[in-house]
Amino acid sequence: MDGNGRWATRHGTSRKAGHQQGSEALRNLLENSRELGVEVFTVYAFSSENWQRSPEEVSDLMDLLRYYLRHEIKKLHKDGVKVCFIGDRTALSSDLQTELEKAELLTENNQALTLVVALSYGSRQELVRAMNKIDGEITVDAVCNALDTANWPEPDLLIRTGGEKRLSNFLLWQCAYTELYFTETLWPDFTIEHLHEALADYAQRERRFGSRPGLAA
Ligand code: IPE
Ligand code: MG
Repeated sequence: MDGNGRWATRHGTSRKAGHQQGSEALRNLLENSRELGVEVFTVYAFSSENWQRSPEEVSDLMDLLRYYLRHEIKKLHKDGVKVCFIGDRTALSSDLQTELEKAELLTENNQALTLVVALSYGSRQELVRAMNKIDGEITVDAVCNALDTANWPEPDLLIRTGGEKRLSNFLLWQCAYTELYFTETLWPDFTIEHLHEALADYAQRERRFGSRPGLAA
């Protein structure tokens, strides 16, 4: 969800306000995306590398996270959303870790949509953790099953907002055959209409998974 800082600059406001606007964008999107038929919606909220931002910005982001965990989870639960977190949660403060567990427990049987929030997440770090968990032979399946994302299918579509064209340590293994979509739209401006556009673009793609046309899985 990239572009909060640039959105703030363009609007002559603080980065903190940009992140707040970005959080609202996610809330609106989730409210409006029910009928799209998306089963798993994963958002990159805070990367392992984001810890290197200024202490003020990190603290603002953690405060925002705390606020949404306390005030929005009940609503998501009411809407049937199952909320899960991936990443190294041990790096988060203990009160936040407790909130994450509470949110996962409360929503664990929900089936309308699974919202996966990547927090303190880095794909390389996740892969190293996964490799260290494997007892026996390291195989593709063994790695898949040891990743934080073991419970979900690989993403069909990855959307990066904010104009950069890179993955930035996000789901590197899982995106082997994911369709990539890049848009200049800054995350706080990203609405359900933008999501529809991305899905329409995705619908035009021919997915071959390395096979020949017509033989796709
Ligand atoms: C993304 O927005 C939000 C987080 C990384 C938490 P940025 O803060 O990266 O916004 P830009 O890239 O400065 O516009
Ligand atoms: Mg950025």
